[in-house]
Amino acid sequence: MILVTGGAGFIGANFVLDWLATCGEPVVNLDKLTYAGNLENLASLARDAGHVFVRGDIGDGAAVARLLATHQPRAVVNFAAESHVDRSIHGPGDFIQTNIVGTFHLLEAVRAYWGGLAAPEQAAFRFLHVSTDEVYGSLGPGDAAFTETHRYQPNSPYSASKAASDHLVRAYHHTYGLPVLTTNCSNNYGPYHFPEKLIPLMIVNALAGKPLPVYGDGMQVRDWLYVKDHCSAIRRVLEAGRLGEVYNVGGWNEMPNIDIVNAVCRLLDELRPRADGQSYRTQISYVADRPGHDRRYAIDARKLEQELGWKPAETFESGIRKTVLWYLEHPQWVAHVQTGAYRDWVKTHYAA
Ligand code: NAD
Ligand code: TYD
Repeated sequence: MILVTGGAGFIGANFVLDWLATCGEPVVNLDKLTYAGNLENLASLARDAGHVFVRGDIGDGAAVARLLATHQPRAVVNFAAESHVDRSIHGPGDFIQTNIVGTFHLLEAVRAYWGGLAAPEQAAFRFLHVSTDEVYGSLGPGDAAFTETHRYQPNSPYSASKAASDHLVRAYHHTYGLPVLTTNCSNNYGPYHFPEKLIPLMIVNALAGKPLPVYGDGMQVRDWLYVKDHCSAIRRVLEAGRLGEVYNVGGWNEMPNIDIVNAVCRLLDELRPRADGQSYRTQISYVADRPGHDRRYAIDARKLEQELGWKPAETFESGIRKTVLWYLEHPQWVAHVQTGAYRDWVKTHYAA
């Protein structure tokens, strides 16, 4: 079996669902259930003996050690993190605790467990760390896309904390020989995405008749990847990645934010037209920019394609249509994630 951390969040939950559907190998899922963790994402696994959920913190070394000893996983896939840039600007403390200190405690527990395995199990063991393209910093309009050797230049407390965790993972391989793999992926979108991030926020706000807040001039560029393509990339790297290597994961799909928002509006106009016949675009509202806002991210995913044969299955057009349809078909999920805590965040963050 494998141990997944952060498997009740957006990407982690998609990964666990796809993993059990594609290979069926059992999963132990360790998640702290912060505001971003949602067991409803895994409701379809309620009667699946292949999924064992454990509520806990990756920073609790003793608890992680007990889990490892009990379940004897052949691999650990680490998704657990604080993940929202805007929240990291308002309060970086949790990002330092989970993304840096938490990853350190997780690595320590894994190192001790791995060190005690018999030689064949030790050789087969993998620790896969899920990271982001944001560690590389911001690109100018004509710059080449990020390769795995691009220098680290993180600009937000979120990306700095992820960068630190990447360095720790690297050091545990270099120093202790821990068999690690790291993936640095671009912006994901798809089902179960918490509506504080751009795409689900736009869908949910549009349907609620609320403004669609676009930061600054809306011309910041991100490289968008459908979440299930990220999951297939992680499975492939876990299966065949070279030890100690880093693999960039991206969708070859750079788009300015305003084009993303317009694409969401266009789909909603088609699939759920407004009662007054107007376009959802009329709800677009330009708001103050994010401090230190990175202008452009772009991923060069050729290493993953050439070495391991991975390619995304979805285009942006097919992926965004699936995503909008999923939100239209899951109003209850949306209603449930909009708890008091989430409403408080939206009120504070968008107050100005
Ligand atoms: P998310 O915020 O939706 O989910 C994070 C999950 O981790 C939640 O279930 C949360 O409860 C859990 N968690 C938080 N702190 C924990 C702790 N201390 N111990 C155990 N569990 C804890 O995030 P996501 O978007 O699913 O991202 C998952 C991973 O992928 C993160 O490491 C993130 O940096 C990385 N990533 C995300 C994107 C993206 O576009 N969302 C892109 C590239 C990489
Ligand atoms: P986000 O989904 O927060 O991901 P990240 O900051 O990790 O890339 O934001 C994606 C882009 O959308 C980013 O450039 C910020 C922008 N954005 C808005 O314009 N308005 C919003 O309300 C949000 C949440 C994001």
